[in-house]
Amino acid sequence: MTTTSPQPPVQPAAYTGTVGEKQPTRPAAELPYRPPTPKNRPGIGLIGCGGITAHHLTAYRAAGYPVVALCDPDLARAQERRATFYPDAAIYTDARDLLRREEVEVVDIATHPSERVALIEAALMAHKHVLSQKPFVLDLDTGERLCALAEKKGLHLAVNQNGRWAPHVAYLRLAVAAGLLGELTSADLSVHWDHSWVVGTPFDKIDDLLLYDFAIHWFDMLTCYFGAEEPQQVFAAVRRTRSQRPRPPMLAHVLVDYPSAQATLSFNATTTTGQHDRTFLVGTEATALSSGPGLQEQHVQIFTAEGVAAPQLHGQWFPDGFHGTMAELLCAIEEKRPPSHHAADTLRSLALAFAAIGSAHDGQPKRPGQVRRLPAA
Ligand SMILES: NC(=O)c1ccc[n+]([C@@H]2O[C@H](COP(=O)([O-])OP(=O)(O)OC[C@H]3O[C@@H](n4cnc5c(N)ncnc54)[C@H](O)[C@@H]3O)[C@@H](O)[C@H]2O)c1
Repeated sequence: MTTTSPQPPVQPAAYTGTVGEKQPTRPAAELPYRPPTPKNRPGIGLIGCGGITAHHLTAYRAAGYPVVALCDPDLARAQERRATFYPDAAIYTDARDLLRREEVEVVDIATHPSERVALIEAALMAHKHVLSQKPFVLDLDTGERLCALAEKKGLHLAVNQNGRWAPHVAYLRLAVAAGLLGELTSADLSVHWDHSWVVGTPFDKIDDLLLYDFAIHWFDMLTCYFGAEEPQQVFAAVRRTRSQRPRPPMLAHVLVDYPSAQATLSFNATTTTGQHDRTFLVGTEATALSSGPGLQEQHVQIFTAEGVAAPQLHGQWFPDGFHGTMAELLCAIEEKRPPSHHAADTLRSLALAFAAIGSAHDGQPKRPGQVRRLPAA
């Protein structure tokens, strides 16, 4: 009879950098995660002076960008924005009057998507570069048509995917692009917050509010992290909770398959206590974790076999993200190159969102690009 003596536990050859353990610290890679600085300051016109534009204008004023004209059919809104941010700006109730002004070279269009298409078209026809608020369009074919028009006119059309310049997202996308994580094998993003502020606003009327209006930023993060890697299939499910006050479902889960990686997005918009926002990226060389109580307060760690690096990041998504989208557009104009948030790139994120919404509606997985329009409920 042969006996096998008990084997000692196998010791890892190298430090495995387990998340949550006390481990050696490493210097963090220096990455240019802050918004770039344009040399030129062309005149900016803002079309639509609604709630979100306080963040646009706070960022532009701090960066020293000249907003020379404001427009809203609701004159009081344009007057309020002028009084608070740019006392010398001209104000209009009709966008055509703003577009006639020669010193307006860049137009920031911050209306809801349904009004936006005609405004973007008019701005491009008036030979202005355009920054469109998100979600860019209600249908991918319209988005492609607008991209083609901008190209034909030799103008830039960028989308205000400001999450790209949230400090933690900017750092992580640059880390992935620089190959610091090796090959990305999974991305798990979860957001637990309270979205009940939408009750009584136009947002409460959007059937797929979470996956369309809100999650577009998280679909866009996947577009940034996975770069040229093409997503192959999207599956999603949404639910209403018994106690939620907003009309649209406040719970959503999404699974995205890439050729050799997977991503999950998880949302609970009814979290009133212990709110948390987390990004977990696993690569073949390193793992990145960004976490915190919300999108304004995030702590980034990069785990490698040698230890953990924790970059000290400055700034916050609001308003620095809004600085980033305009700064990148202005730099692209002066450097005569496409902006990194050009509309065609962000359409890839919208294709993910539409596929997820289509999947949530019929319970079947979808190929990105297969669902061309925002599906009706
Ligand atoms: N993080 C973000 O980037 C972020 C956050 C919130 C909202 N948003 C997006 O910004 C957009 C606007 O949101 P909001 O909260 O400011 O909405 P809002 O309803 O407060 O404002 C929309 C404004 O557009 C104006 N408007 C409508 N038609 C117009 C026209 N033809 N010309 C000029 N102005 C016109 C309205 O009068 C209104 O003042 C939405 O697409 C929303 O998804 C983005």
